[in-house]
Amino acid sequence: MKAIVYERYGSPDVLELKEVEKPTPKDNEVLVKVHAASANAADWHIMRGEPFLVRLMVGGLLKPKIKILGADIAGRVEAVGRNVKQFQPGDEVFGDISDCGWGGFAEYVCVSEDALVLKPASTTFEEAAAVPLAAVTALQGLRDKGQIQPGQKVLINGASGGVGTFAVQIAKSFGAEVTGVCSTRKLDMVRSIGADQVIDYTQEDFTKSGQRYDLILAANGYHPILDYKRALSPEGIYVCTGGSMAQIFQSMLLGPWMSMIGSKKMGNLAAKSNKKDLAFMKELLEAGKVVPVIDRRYPLSEVAEALRYLEEGHAQGKVVITVERNNKT
Ligand SMILES: NC(=O)c1ccc[n+]([C@@H]2O[C@H](COP(=O)([O-])OP(=O)(O)OC[C@H]3O[C@@H](n4cnc5c(N)ncnc54)[C@H](OP(=O)(O)O)[C@@H]3O)[C@@H](O)[C@H]2O)c1
Repeated sequence: MKAIVYERYGSPDVLELKEVEKPTPKDNEVLVKVHAASANAADWHIMRGEPFLVRLMVGGLLKPKIKILGADIAGRVEAVGRNVKQFQPGDEVFGDISDCGWGGFAEYVCVSEDALVLKPASTTFEEAAAVPLAAVTALQGLRDKGQIQPGQKVLINGASGGVGTFAVQIAKSFGAEVTGVCSTRKLDMVRSIGADQVIDYTQEDFTKSGQRYDLILAANGYHPILDYKRALSPEGIYVCTGGSMAQIFQSMLLGPWMSMIGSKKMGNLAAKSNKKDLAFMKELLEAGKVVPVIDRRYPLSEVAEALRYLEEGHAQGKVVITVERNNKT
């Protein structure tokens, strides 16, 4: 089978399209013919081995242990191991396979059945592949850490990216009044996915407007943590899922201390792939409450280009890899 393989950490130039052995499922595994995958910031961090901490997290201090990147997949079950209960050949599935060895940038991958959920019939493989990691991050940030409630004023900083476009739609589905922060060129798109208000961060700093929010999800960008705190209502919650290293470290190191003083809660989320949460996202897709925003599609042979583009940090929604050309649902 064809796969995008890398043997050393570095720029997208280290990625090569190679012919490798097609995997065989173990007893508890499912062999999936990948129709589409999607790219996440985690792919390029692990490709570069930067920050160094990711090498400790995924293994491979000097050389990558994971040889084929790609966490998000959608495809068709081709074969199942003898202990697999939930799927059979022909099923259309999607999932985040980062907990079972990665490998989505390939024609086939073997994964635990626990990583997969049946794909909604009305969702294309490309749309489904866009969902798992980014949407589950947004869901866990808003619902679990952020304790989102109907009627709350919720602000998403970085509303136009992979996580942000899901966060806006998920927050709306919970009945919140949503403000999306993005740059000028993306205001219309963020409005079109349901944001009640949009703020152009090139024109206005929302932390200085005097407006207060019950929940702020920082999906991207940077503001000092004290500025986020100021923009919260008295019982407000701030959840950082991404953005600059300074933003992430401030939320991790200072957030817990700041939460001890007063009634505002400040913190960080490291999302965990979770089948129940993906099944929850499946329901939102089926109900039409969430529609993945796809910015660009690249063929498997151009994963390096896809990651180069994503790494620039200006994607509008998700970047998808089309692995199987005949991609009808
Ligand atoms: N905590 C976790 O478990 C977890 C999970 C997934 C991702 N992440 C992290 O979350 C971050 C975002 O992920 P993603 O998939 O959404 O990335 P992404 O799709 O690459 O984000 C790109 C978007 O961010 C916007 N952006 C850039 N600078 C901004 C700023 N200063 N203010 C507001 N928006 C800005 C860009 O809009 P413009 O071009 O218009 O600026 C673009 O639309 C990354 O740092 C990633 O590593 C964390």
